[in-house]
Amino acid sequence: MMKLGVCYYPEHWPTAMWATDAAEMKSIGLSLVRIGEFAWSRLEPKEGTFDFSWLDEVIEILYGAGLQFILGTPSATPPRWMLDKFPDLLAWDEGGRPREFGSRRHYCHSHEAYMHVAAEMAERLAKRYGNHPALYAWQTDNEYGCHDTVRSYSPLATIAFQNWLSNKYKTITELNQRWGNVFWSMEYDSFDQIGLPNLTVTEPNPSHKLDFYRFCSDQVVVWNQAQIAAIRPHTDKPIFHNYMGRITEFDHFKLGEDMEIATWDTYPLGFLEDRSDRDESFRHKYQYTGDPDFQAFHHDLYRAVGKGRWGIMEQQPGPVNWAPYNPAPARGMVRVWTLEAMAHGAEFVAYFRWRQLPFAQEQMHSALKRPDNRPSEVLDEIRLLNEDLKKYSSSENHKAQVGLIFDYESQWAWEVQPQGQDFDYFRLVYDFYCGLRQLGLDVDILPPDGQSVDNYAVVLVPGLFSLNDQLMEALSSFTGELLLGPRTNIKTKDFHIHPDSVSQLMQIDLKLDQVETLRPTETRNVEGIGTFHSWIESLQVNGESVPPLLYKNDRTYLGGWPDKETMISVLRNCAERAGIAIEDQEDGVRLRNGFVVGYGEASFELSK
Ligand code: GAL
Repeated sequence: MMKLGVCYYPEHWPTAMWATDAAEMKSIGLSLVRIGEFAWSRLEPKEGTFDFSWLDEVIEILYGAGLQFILGTPSATPPRWMLDKFPDLLAWDEGGRPREFGSRRHYCHSHEAYMHVAAEMAERLAKRYGNHPALYAWQTDNEYGCHDTVRSYSPLATIAFQNWLSNKYKTITELNQRWGNVFWSMEYDSFDQIGLPNLTVTEPNPSHKLDFYRFCSDQVVVWNQAQIAAIRPHTDKPIFHNYMGRITEFDHFKLGEDMEIATWDTYPLGFLEDRSDRDESFRHKYQYTGDPDFQAFHHDLYRAVGKGRWGIMEQQPGPVNWAPYNPAPARGMVRVWTLEAMAHGAEFVAYFRWRQLPFAQEQMHSALKRPDNRPSEVLDEIRLLNEDLKKYSSSENHKAQVGLIFDYESQWAWEVQPQGQDFDYFRLVYDFYCGLRQLGLDVDILPPDGQSVDNYAVVLVPGLFSLNDQLMEALSSFTGELLLGPRTNIKTKDFHIHPDSVSQLMQIDLKLDQVETLRPTETRNVEGIGTFHSWIESLQVNGESVPPLLYKNDRTYLGGWPDKETMISVLRNCAERAGIAIEDQEDGVRLRNGFVVGYGEASFELSK
């Protein structure tokens, strides 16, 4: 049965409250408690002076109450003394300014000495608690990439980037050639002349910038590996990281390869206000329930990142404090979000946080308990969830018939060169996802490695900047319905225009003549096909102009960004050709795994 849990910060509360907190958690049916992830200043108040006694005590209390704990490593919050030890610890922003102490995530991923100190702290924790009978899992750090913290433009990042480039290209001649540095006399004589692609007079070379983005992503992976290497020898419990919604600056699939589970932190109302592209009327309509597809998209994404095993480490329980507007969820919606995660196969859902804090940055963030320890409204909903879970939980997490490929590198590439300022890769893939779900289809998000495409009846590859050899091979021999485009494989990995983007896959002599990007007020109608916005391609087959929607056997090429109606008709066609049953859904209603999730009415039930 899916477990329920909560994030707890015992270091914020008097010791005397811990035992009653634990007993109450247990009594409402929670079984997992995450602790520790920001507590460095209490674990090592002075350099070399450690105090684990309070954590020992908390853990024994949780254990005694019959709860299991997840232990977070505290590296997202290096204490103030760490800056005296490492004055160059801070990340720098794109404008070339250090990002100062006084909140969190104030470290640069290229600071190797801090990476080692953080790994040592992880090792200390692992040695001490790695075999504790109540330990459920480990969390490394906290939300990589949150607060824009993947790309650091610090002097240390510059040196690390030069080394990364030298490893990749071996000779400077090779780099000059592959970046095309003859353009604008950008040729370098040695790797140590290469700076970061910020503060240039006009746009930097796209190959330079994309390599920097790849490097930044790799730095996060290496950073995380250091902690895993420190923890692993001392525990047999799984390790995970808690990812976030729509954070795309590092490759989650690469990070996920090193860990057993993926988790993510979901704040549906915060996300709708803070990081969605939806228009005002949509936001108004769903302000109390959230975007009906946003949570599901990430559930499906992180299920893939976790290779099947995933959970929710932080679930919004009431109003948050960080979005432009912070309404309370509709009554019953926390229950629906929780059960929706179950329908997508989550192992656990944990709420953020146990008790609202009366001080510091998050004092306006709600919790399961109010600051004066009265229960908040949501507590009853959670209590009832235990019954729901008994009724609905099943270990079966059936696979979808539709696979949608998501590729982090493509997000970076189209950020580097959007061509039209509204072009966003995440939004493009998300549009396909929403369309598929409107047709009542379950969707699995797939990494761009081609490994599992054969298991699907339909595979979609929109906007993928450059297909790697494995994916090219897998798609070439794929026998289901394949949808490519728009903008798929139009570049080489070096960020040059691809001489022959998808001909091979489409099995026709397809040429891309030109692309246009359109102003937000502009759309293009193509007779017999529908309406496009933002991006439209001019295509030729065998030297003749053809419309931007092509079929050849079981392959479709779409040469533009379709509006909602056109998207639905293209997807419907694909699904019908593949022989998959479609069930059109109303806007706020979504299906997954035999359940019906209502975002209009806050409802959850088995489908009939
Ligand atoms: C998350 C973070 C938590 C807390 C929460 C507030 O992004 O991991 O520590 O800040 O947001 O909503």
